[in-house]
Amino acid sequence: MDKLVWVNNQQYLLQKNIEQSVPFLQHFTSEQVNRVTAFHHTYEKFKNTPLRNLQALASLLGVQNIMVKDESYRFDLNAFKVLGGVYAIGQYVANILGRNIEDLSFEQLKSPEVKKQLGDLTFISTTDGNHGRGVAWAARELGFKARIYMPAGSAEERLQNIKNEGAYAEMTTMNYDDTVRYTAKLAQDNGWVIIQDTMWEGYEEIPLWIMQGYATLVKEVVDQLEKAPSHVFLQAGVGSFAGAVVAYLKQSYTQEITFILVEPYAANCFYESFKQGAPHYVTVGGEMQTIMAGLACGEPNPMAWEILKTYTKIGICCHETVAATGMRVLGNAIGTDARIVAGESGAAPFGCFYELMTNEHYALLRDTLQINEHSRVLFFNTEGDTDVENYRNIMWHGGYAK
Ligand SMILES: Cc1ncc(COP(=O)(O)O)c(C=O)c1O
Repeated sequence: MDKLVWVNNQQYLLQKNIEQSVPFLQHFTSEQVNRVTAFHHTYEKFKNTPLRNLQALASLLGVQNIMVKDESYRFDLNAFKVLGGVYAIGQYVANILGRNIEDLSFEQLKSPEVKKQLGDLTFISTTDGNHGRGVAWAARELGFKARIYMPAGSAEERLQNIKNEGAYAEMTTMNYDDTVRYTAKLAQDNGWVIIQDTMWEGYEEIPLWIMQGYATLVKEVVDQLEKAPSHVFLQAGVGSFAGAVVAYLKQSYTQEITFILVEPYAANCFYESFKQGAPHYVTVGGEMQTIMAGLACGEPNPMAWEILKTYTKIGICCHETVAATGMRVLGNAIGTDARIVAGESGAAPFGCFYELMTNEHYALLRDTLQINEHSRVLFFNTEGDTDVENYRNIMWHGGYAK
């Protein structure tokens, strides 16, 4: 099996004038995103995560800049996901209280008066690990209950991390998408509030808030960067993260940016959808076993799809070894570059980039992307070592080298 396969979605973009037809960018204006960020900043321990400039690695690989936004530092939770869950819970509560979120803080949401008005709320969600941990964390911080369900084959450590946040957590015997349907049913039967990071008909508001929550990290990047990136590599599970990043970057820069979407072979619904050149997405199913657990989703978020089908140039799906190589390269810094502890889903896009810059087999892809010594390439390390055992297996023992 090839380490990477790719599809040029650009041809589809050229065929149809779909740029104006994207209706969702208005949810990611700087005004809207400032509101989100203001809410996040009311958390007393809030800190921006670092944006690393890997200059030695850029010289070695022949590009001008390699920038990595390192979300392993987010709220001591080792992943970016909490930004979405906590903003969605904040918005939900603000709506019940009839208040604007910009007038509410973490402290106010925790107050006994608010608790008296709201009574007991239980939030429920499906997760590969990071989203559920973020929801559990947010519920605990704000004094609510959380119930979190994981697909079969999830890492025990990730389950335990969720339990450590005080949530009820359980591993099911289903894959990710079926577990989402199961939790949606549980929520309906029990009057619990589902905080899911993907969207379906009739369930649109909360997933939109989650995507808006992610925009805080993109705004940090825009504020931290001196110049627009030329290329952005983004990992996709359901695509909510990538959709939010693209939406905010498109509104922040007038310069042309090339977006590349990365998925594992085992869960490549965007790749398959691009390949069909269809205006509608297709889904993939089965067990979707991959070390890139956060990307193991077979059904795109429809709103994210609308954004990503319009703006993605290349869709790549990659072999497990590509993510492992990305982890090793980022974790073994050269020169004065910072070391980046990147988990499987966090490192996959960088792994693809490393492969296409160092393997002549992908020269055509490199040319199609026009990556060269003038390129400023941006990555998001969306998680750190959220599965420590697997991280060490890969870093210390050469796991997934072949
Ligand atoms: C670490 C990590 N990166 C990326 C993603 C992908 O996000 P999305 O499902 O919104 O595409 C996830 C999702 O859980 C994740 O946990």
